[in-house]
Amino acid sequence: MHARTSDADGAQAPALVVREVWKRFGENEVLRGISLDVAEGEVIAILGSSGSGKSTLLRCVNHLEHIDRGRIVIEGETLADTDASGQARYPDERTVRRICAQTGMVFQHFNLFLHMTVLQNLIEAPMTVKGMARAAIVPRAEELLRKVGLFDKRDAYPGRLSGGQKQRVAIARALAMEPRIMLFDEPTSALDPELTGEVLRTMRALAQERMTMLVVTHEMAFAREVAHRAVFMDQGVVVEDRPAREFFAEPRHPRAQAFLQHMP
Ligand SMILES: Nc1ncnc2c1ncn2[C@@H]1O[C@H](COP(=O)(O)OP(=O)(O)O)[C@@H](O)[C@H]1O
Ligand SMILES: [Mg+2]
Repeated sequence: MHARTSDADGAQAPALVVREVWKRFGENEVLRGISLDVAEGEVIAILGSSGSGKSTLLRCVNHLEHIDRGRIVIEGETLADTDASGQARYPDERTVRRICAQTGMVFQHFNLFLHMTVLQNLIEAPMTVKGMARAAIVPRAEELLRKVGLFDKRDAYPGRLSGGQKQRVAIARALAMEPRIMLFDEPTSALDPELTGEVLRTMRALAQERMTMLVVTHEMAFAREVAHRAVFMDQGVVVEDRPAREFFAEPRHPRAQAFLQHMP
């Protein structure tokens, strides 16, 4: 594996660096120079109204979208950088896959493989992407299912699970790839309120284990209690990036103030 870079004084390099990232869809400039440094073990709540670019930002970090300009460095390795002509450049596909394997993503709509059992969902990517032997990954997958409280569902198909259970499987599936950074895109927005708590508890436990996490969420209580930093986006720009406690006590940007006022 690759040694992580450190500063001269021995400080750890950031887990994630996003620098001046631009991304457009056709005429729609969705990310307009986003910059963000995330330290190892930090939990970041990404907030903002619908259409502000939150999902696109996560998708660029996980390379589900290609950026137009800017730089993304994950665990000290450059995923994307901009050349003299101003175009974003990526390394070869294999390197991109290896760098992106450091990030795990959890989506609003679970995206589980419906024709596979819970256990198969967990072991599929480690086997096909990482080339791990089934015998090597099954014990780890079972341990993860225990951790999210779903060991007894290992042979069930996702269709038989509640939304909260599905999302916990999705979290366990992402963790089975042993990512260094977890990206959550509104993980509880598709859930009935009574199922939200069990997913947030799982995420809280991960945060307590010092997993680096970027969480797009409308769960303000969770963001306030668990996140170290709040990043508020508006129209493709980060307009506030402050310690969560300060942000929630006294948001500065008018859009952030209005946003928080409309939250339950
Ligand atoms: N694949 C896509 N193709 C075209 N437009 C997109 C695509 N994904 C997102 N957008 C547009 O980008 C803007 C930001 O979307 P998104 O990142 O999903 O915002 P958020 O997650 O904050 O609601 C929206 O105007 C959306 O319509
Ligand atoms: Mg979104």
